[in-house]
Amino acid sequence: MVSYKELGLVNTKELFQKAIEGKYAIPAFNFNNMEQLQAIISACVETKSPVILQVSSGARKYANQTLLRYMAQGAVEYAKELGYAIPIVLHLDHGDSLELCKDCIQSGFSSVMIDGSHLPYEENVALTKSVVDYAHQHGVTVEGELGILAGIEDDVVAEHHTYTEPDEVVDFVTRTGVDSLAISIGTSHGANKFTPDQCTVDENGRLVPPPLRFDILEEIEKRIPGFPIVLHGSSSVPQEHVDTINKYGGALKDSIGIPEEQLRHAAESAVCKVNIDSDGRLAMTAKIREVMATNPAEFDPRKYLGPAREELKKLYMHKTKNVLGSAGKA
Ligand code: G3H
Ligand code: 13P
Ligand code: ZN
Repeated sequence: MVSYKELGLVNTKELFQKAIEGKYAIPAFNFNNMEQLQAIISACVETKSPVILQVSSGARKYANQTLLRYMAQGAVEYAKELGYAIPIVLHLDHGDSLELCKDCIQSGFSSVMIDGSHLPYEENVALTKSVVDYAHQHGVTVEGELGILAGIEDDVVAEHHTYTEPDEVVDFVTRTGVDSLAISIGTSHGANKFTPDQCTVDENGRLVPPPLRFDILEEIEKRIPGFPIVLHGSSSVPQEHVDTINKYGGALKDSIGIPEEQLRHAAESAVCKVNIDSDGRLAMTAKIREVMATNPAEFDPRKYLGPAREELKKLYMHKTKNVLGSAGKA
């Protein structure tokens, strides 16, 4: 058993309390490789932002779970070397079983998500509680989820959102003992969060998606005042990256994300963790495509992964400074 405390990581408890009081949100950025991790850490050190490093089951399979854990440990040292020891959380994204959560906790994760949102309510309560009981013995914080996001989540595809039912949150939170709650108010995973026919068109001809259900968020906040809320599926899908990808041979269609003003608004509420993965994927792919297309003779991976890492860093700095308000809070 390796405790996250030995690795210099922190859990989410204090970070979330400060984020709620300070009306900002902590970025939860997914990583699968070294360049993503370097960009996340250097961006958050430079903007003095706390950060949640998020590892999905897919990332564990892709990069090897042991390697990822050592990379997170390395990230703590890397931040110090860059000159500022920001608080770093290592978090399991969309954990689907007690066994997986236990495995992560035993290998140094400081926070886990148990996603029982697709299960019948009572089964979600029972599974989540079993994870909380184990995690809390080790000082690890737990995120649960109520409500189902539309689109693909893990291997489950939901055509429509099942918004979080405000009447369920008090019961769920008290019976499970979770430290934070992911909710469904209109966000979804991936780069295609809305179809064009769900959108209106603004004066510049840009598609404007329907607003998030802030009324549901307000109802939830009334029921569990001051309780940390999490938003998944919160990429904004920057049009410039979609355009670059398509300009250099890509084939992305109908890529529409959550407008940044809405995320800024959410960050001022009890939403204190905002999950962003797809925007990083888009930024990285756009830069790699551009470099490859404009320098066809290049075959040194550092020559395209390096610029991609710079592009990612710019994106993450923008998120902490201009979207989530976490810059300067470390
Ligand atoms: O919520 C899902 C995250 O974007 C992780 O995606 O399972 O493809 O690693 P992944
Ligand atoms: P995006 O696909 O919007 O980046 O969401 C990522 C996420 O919620 C990870 O859990
Ligand atoms: Zn998610």
